[in-house]
Amino acid sequence: MNYIVGGTASKTVAEDLAKILKARTVDTISKRFPDNELYVRILDNIWGKDVIIVQTTYPDSNIVELFLLQNAIEEAGAKSITVVIPYYGYARQDTKFQDGEAISAKALANLISLNADKVITVDPHKEHILDFFSTSAYSCSAVPEIAKYLDRKEIDMVLAPDKGAVDRAKKASKIIGCDFDYMEKTRIDGTTVEIKPKNLDAQNKNVAIIDDIISTGGTMAKSIKELKKQGAKKVFVACTHGLFADNAIKKLSTAGCDEIISTDTIISNYSKVKIAPAITKLIQ
Ligand code: R5P
Repeated sequence: MNYIVGGTASKTVAEDLAKILKARTVDTISKRFPDNELYVRILDNIWGKDVIIVQTTYPDSNIVELFLLQNAIEEAGAKSITVVIPYYGYARQDTKFQDGEAISAKALANLISLNADKVITVDPHKEHILDFFSTSAYSCSAVPEIAKYLDRKEIDMVLAPDKGAVDRAKKASKIIGCDFDYMEKTRIDGTTVEIKPKNLDAQNKNVAIIDDIISTGGTMAKSIKELKKQGAKKVFVACTHGLFADNAIKKLSTAGCDEIISTDTIISNYSKVKIAPAITKLIQ
């Protein structure tokens, strides 16, 4: 039997996993000292057990909690440690874009690997970040779960916000049974850039745009505005990881978005899609 430890950022995902896997959730204490340092303690006996820790590495405080939980579980004599990271924060700095920079995705992976037999994450920004772990690392996709949700919304077409993300839109469209395309930018003149679906017409259509991350909402907002201008009936935006930084929700609503959908890799009011079923397949 698996034992599951849910970190503060991912309690509901851990509970969902425990239900699906018929695993036992481990009681923990997590509290702050007066100087704000974190304290964790595993309350159950996990000696000789296979333990799964579930913790999103965002924001920074949750990274420290993950390290402490890994250490506590190791010290308690677990037989194996699987680290499930629903949202792997810091993945976007996956290379040195300029001299002197840290490769943040690698720095984090090095430290997580110290106390992990296996790492599982969801829709990492780029798949190659899995190679940064010195232990076995796997990823799963949230797209099938998102597509199942969208399937109730009478979607006519799924769009990727750019060509690089078109595979995600294609995969969702197959599940929904609709068209797919990607948004293409065309420079009209020195000051005007037109953004529209490369091949399809959005007029009178219910459109869903799918991306891995919504951060500031800027990428989605531009596409929503243009699609509405081009006569789209409804525009849904869906993402795996809803960071919703910097007034993103207001930006999306003002742009004319009809519904915002995210998974629960990062918990928010828009976490309408559960990620545990996708993760379960990888654990099993
Ligand atoms: C970029 O490569 C990602 O896939 C997302 O498109 C990006 O992170 C979205 O950022 P924002 O919401 O700030 O436009």
